[in-house]
Amino acid sequence: MPALSLVAPAAQDFEVRPLAGAVGAEIIGLDLSQPLNEADFARVHRAHLDYHVVVFRDQRITPQQQIDFSRRFGVLQIHVLKQFLLAGHPEILIVSNIVENGQPVGLGDAGKYWHSDLSYKELPSLGSMLHAQELPSEGGDTLFADLHKAWDTLPTELREAVRGRSAVHSYTARYSEGKNAANWRPKLTDEQLAQVVTVTHPVVRTHPENGRQALFVSEGFTTHIVGLPADESRDLLDQLYAHSVRPEHVYRHQWQARDLVFWDNRSLIHLAAGCPDHLRRKLYRTTIQGDAPF
Ligand code: SIN
Repeated sequence: MPALSLVAPAAQDFEVRPLAGAVGAEIIGLDLSQPLNEADFARVHRAHLDYHVVVFRDQRITPQQQIDFSRRFGVLQIHVLKQFLLAGHPEILIVSNIVENGQPVGLGDAGKYWHSDLSYKELPSLGSMLHAQELPSEGGDTLFADLHKAWDTLPTELREAVRGRSAVHSYTARYSEGKNAANWRPKLTDEQLAQVVTVTHPVVRTHPENGRQALFVSEGFTTHIVGLPADESRDLLDQLYAHSVRPEHVYRHQWQARDLVFWDNRSLIHLAAGCPDHLRRKLYRTTIQGDAPF
């Protein structure tokens, strides 16, 4: 067992620089392979709350260091698709389009619909970290949409239509959809299905740390709004989705080698734009558990 050090980690000299898109900041000069002292951690935490997505450049960290840093924000969630967890590190989900010896090494089509990670759980995710391992020479971007802004700018009649309503979220809402689903989406076992029973959450949630309201529905996991006829629910959700991802709400992340991107699933939805099939893309994801939405 390593000896416990009583010396606080040294302060690091780093900068928080807002990005040009609707949300997001770069954190320059911080080395996540070193433990953060409390003051540096507090600055990172503040930046995450203020900018909703923070980008740490050029992080030469091990899977264990990613896990240790993620754990400072809360309990880690283990993805239901056990076959895509990193060997020896089940807290890491491999997101990848690579096939080796006829087997996908990771979840190949993760995030192809706008979604908030694990919104289909009673306790959805607070935030997720994605660390770039291998990047394609073209494509592979990740888009983030600000659902606080979406709520703040929602037309009055849509606000009135959703106020006080709840929606159902399901992991299997679109599980088998898409031309490549059969290649990438393993059939779920009964045990896996039991872990992803549907849940109901408010359509508009209050962020537990910044106090702001945000829409909390997504095309990836929301099936319907409770108490509305199916066609009305569909129409309302479609209008909410279209508004959520208006260009002025979106930041498009173009990955650089060894980026670690940490976003807030209580404030944002995200989408993987995809890359040409023949180009390799692999990232490691940790997912931090949040509170029950209210
Ligand atoms: C995800 O939705 O977690 C993956 C996003 C990506 O691959 O860009």
